[in-house]
This record gives sequence, structure tokens and C-alpha cells, in this order.
Amino acid sequence: MTDAPVVNLHGYEARAAERLPRMVFDYFAGGAGDEVTLREARHAWDALAVRYRVLRDVAQVSLATTVLGAALDWPVLVAPMAFQALADPEGELATMRAATGTGSGLVLSTLATRPIEAVRAAGTAPLWFQLYVFKDRGLTAAMVARAEAAGATALVLTVDAPLLGRRERDLLNGFHVPPDTPIPNLAPEARRDLAAAPLAASALGEFTARHWDPSLSWRDLAWLQARTRLPILVKGVVRGDDARESLAHGAAGVIVSNHGGRQLDTAVATARALPEVADAMAGAGTLLVDGGVRRGTDVLKALALGAHAVLLGRPVLWGLAVDGAAGAARVLQLLRDETALAFALAGCRTPAEVTADLLA
Ligand SMILES: Cc1cc2nc3c(=O)[nH]c(=O)nc-3n(C[C@H](O)[C@H](O)[C@H](O)COP(=O)(O)O)c2cc1C
Repeated sequence: MTDAPVVNLHGYEARAAERLPRMVFDYFAGGAGDEVTLREARHAWDALAVRYRVLRDVAQVSLATTVLGAALDWPVLVAPMAFQALADPEGELATMRAATGTGSGLVLSTLATRPIEAVRAAGTAPLWFQLYVFKDRGLTAAMVARAEAAGATALVLTVDAPLLGRRERDLLNGFHVPPDTPIPNLAPEARRDLAAAPLAASALGEFTARHWDPSLSWRDLAWLQARTRLPILVKGVVRGDDARESLAHGAAGVIVSNHGGRQLDTAVATARALPEVADAMAGAGTLLVDGGVRRGTDVLKALALGAHAVLLGRPVLWGLAVDGAAGAARVLQLLRDETALAFALAGCRTPAEVTADLLA
């Protein structure tokens, strides 16, 4: 281990790699197949060049914004990520504290390791619930009702995972969730399956094949809408036509995402898909993006391409692994400070001033 100061999100990844068991680090870090999409995510943000403005009086910069009614101090929410107790014993409770302390939002995964009610009570950050649709629609509807009752203010319907992507690091490591890991937002039957799945292959692959519904289609969006008063964001869209279809079926918006390169390898990078989706939506509905955001300039670029906010994934897990809630908060604060600096250096005082002409 080194004692060199950690000055950016990449540094947190390196530190986390030293601390986490290999099986867990690989589960967090890895992507599907040859991890082409995973790598491309970074290249695509890097490839965008900023046409910054000068002499705009940036003495006061405010990153504050409101997304789907959620007031955020800056346009970032923590992405839904499963099994956060594998990074820190407090799991999603620590993440909620970090989000609250940094003015960020939090999207809680279906596969969270802490009950949604406890996560809600652990902080005041805006809380959305990410939903996987199970073959058992009764179980699915019960999760939605519970999330609503617990105070989630939006649903994030993940649609890029009808089946689990082939994550070869997990296959090689025989990835499994330790049997004592709680998955309290799931019905007990489904929970048992996750712990009991064979250790030889990826237990998560077995679990999803058994429970997730690959027949999911646009019809099910109507089904879901009939069961909730919460706005629904469709997560995992990379095409304009799918974004339009989402809005036509009543979604409040979409999240341009390829699941952090964990599903279809060689899928288009989100920074490249975002302009097409923004065009297709033409200002209607809420638009978010995730995948490979590691720098304040990436947040700036996402907004310039039409996103209202960004989800941050793996770096939050690195922060949790390094120093629990404090580590996750430091990761978020680092990126927030970088974002404020990027705004100022680009001549932008507010998110509204981050317009498409900022990109070459
Ligand atoms: C360890 C891990 C677990 C994840 N679990 C979920 C999940 O339960 N539901 C979901 O919709 N997306 C899940 N994702 C995808 C993230 O929400 C997000 O799309 C992606 O990680 C963003 O990319 P980034 O990690 O490069 O920031 C997960 C990602 C990781 C790395």
C-alpha cells in the first residue's frame, strides 16, 4: 500500500484495488466480454473537446439544479449499484450519508443490501428506486409499493438487462454473494436463491436467469405505470427511437446508459449515444446519462450534450471501500469541486449556461 495522496477518482480506484478481495473488486470493476464498451466509455468523454468561453465573470458559480422534482446541489446522483455491503459494512446507509453530505441524489438498487426504509432514514438526499422486473409480477408490484411507501420519489426501470451480460471476470472468479449478505428489499424466496446458487459459475447469472423476465416489453411499462404514482425513468436507452417510445409510453424520461459496459459488449458509448437521444427527445422529458464519468469536465460535457444530470457509478464504490461513508463523500466532493472548476474555466455560471456550442 502507498501513502501518496489521492487527488482524483482514479486514485480511489487504485486504493480500492489494494483493499478489496479480488472477487469483489473484479465484480465492481469489470465489464462484459472483452470490455470494449467499458474502455470506450472513457475514450468517448475524452474525445470531446471544450470550446470554453472567456471573460464571463465566473466569481460565483452555482451547480444547483432540480431534476424530476429533486433539488440537487449539483447535477449528480449515485447510480444504482447492487451489493454495496461488499464495499463497506454499512453498505447503502453509508452511501446515503455521502450523498446527503455532498448535495447529491441516490438511486437505490433492487439488489441493495440495506432496507429502503433504513436508507431513507439515514439521510435527506433525494432517493429514487431502481427496479428490475421479476417474472413474478406480484413480487415486482410489492417492491414498487414498498419503495413508494418508503419515500422514493421516482422509479428507475432498468431495461438493458433482460438477461445478465457475460462478465468473464465473474465466471473466472466464481463470483457469488456471501450467504450472510442481506438483500432485504427482495421477497425471501428470491433472496434464498441468490445465496444458494452454485458457486462454480457466476451466482448472479444463475439468479437473474431464474428471476428476471426476459419477455419484458413496452407493454410492461404500461403495467408498471398503472401501479405507481411515481414518475418512471427508463434506464439503458442508447437510441433516439427508444427514447421517443419511452416518452410515448408515459415515461418521465430516460437514462442513456449501457450499464457501465456490463451488458452488451461493443455497445455504443453513452457519450456518443447522448446527442441522438437528446435530439429525439427535443426537450421533452428528463434526460440523464451514465458510464465512465470520472472528471468534472465529463459532467460539463454531459450537460452540454443535453443531459439534465449524470449518474456516478463505480467511483462511489471505490470511496466506500477505502473509507466508508467518508470515502464515498470525498469521491463525490472531489468530482463536485472538479465540476465547479470546469464550469468556471468554461465560462459557465449555472447549468443553464452549459449549452451545446461549448463542444467542438
Ligand atoms: C457493481 C455494479 C453493480 C450495478 N448494479 C446495478 C443495478 O443493480 N441496477 C442497475 O440498474 N444498474 C446497475 N449497475 C450499473 C450502474 O447503475 C451504472 O449504469 C454504471 O455503473 C455507470 O457507469 P460507471 O460505473 O462507469 O459510472 C451496476 C454497476 C456496477 C459497477
